[in-house]
Amino acid sequence: MFPLRRNRRLRSNEAIRSLVRETIISPNDFIVPLFIVEGKSVKEEIASMPGYYRYSLDLIEKEVKELWGLGLKSVLLFVKVPENLKDNAGTEAINPEGLMQRAVKTVKNAVPEMLVMTDVALDPYSSFGHDGVIADGKILNDDTTAILAEMSLSHAKVGADFVAPSDMMDGRIFEIRSLLEDEGFHDTGIMSYSAKYASAFYGPFRDALDSAPVDAQEVPKDKKTYQMDPSNRDEAIRETMMDIDEGADIVMVKPGLCYLDIVRDIKNVVNVPVSVYQVSGEYAMIKAASEKGWLDHDAVVLEQLTAIKRAGADMIASYFAKEAVKLIS
Ligand code: PBG
Repeated sequence: MFPLRRNRRLRSNEAIRSLVRETIISPNDFIVPLFIVEGKSVKEEIASMPGYYRYSLDLIEKEVKELWGLGLKSVLLFVKVPENLKDNAGTEAINPEGLMQRAVKTVKNAVPEMLVMTDVALDPYSSFGHDGVIADGKILNDDTTAILAEMSLSHAKVGADFVAPSDMMDGRIFEIRSLLEDEGFHDTGIMSYSAKYASAFYGPFRDALDSAPVDAQEVPKDKKTYQMDPSNRDEAIRETMMDIDEGADIVMVKPGLCYLDIVRDIKNVVNVPVSVYQVSGEYAMIKAASEKGWLDHDAVVLEQLTAIKRAGADMIASYFAKEAVKLIS
């Protein structure tokens, strides 16, 4: 009489499998990253992100209406800043008429109910491609957080629902929260990139925004003095707890797939929503392998997104959001 327990009974057909399924992905899970450029009628494919585009503001309207129609209700905005507007302090980031500020208004105008999140970091605005101001061979922490707070305020003023600081400077959540409160933006939320690793998977994103670090004043061309060492696990909890203490409404782990242990560690100890960013390199790998016919694209996309949610993600920022909701509908 062995085995008494036959686990295959619960897998024997789709009806029983769907009854016992533990993780379901839905349009409610997604945040859609959008890349925005200056110009008119621009829809440029990003070379290292096949099927993903940079849009000018006139075309972004149509895109967000389509997203809303698919049940996708949150976007995360990134802008590609013209080279001549970049400087060390990222001054253009706080221009009230800058591309990001106009983009927020455009999206809110097109679909007022859409949740608009904005990337807050200096790298797309920095002539050195860094997330902080550089002086004497160093990335200056406190000078940078002061600018990030101003940048967040300027996004809040044009209607951003959430700001999403992705820079990894110390103390930025406190600076941002304090300034937003002082200026009366009590309802503007903060989604903090709290455990963000110095990952090689951001390459295609830096192509998309032309924001890769360059040689500058003896500062290394990598982001290892502010983004986390991929070898570290306990540190992710420390970073995340600090951001929650400073006022983060939502915390984030980034990238996704290589860091699912971190996602679960954090999910087990925090009581705020946890987001995961499935980053550009993760997107590019699936696209490249399926172009070669080596992987089943749709199946791999759904498997990875399910794995991220199963690990503990309450929401996922993903370049696959649109394709995924079409696949599950
Ligand atoms: C900017 C920022 C980056 C990403 C999101 N915000 C790049 C970086 O830190 O170098 C990466 C997203 C992706 O690869 O999809 N600070």
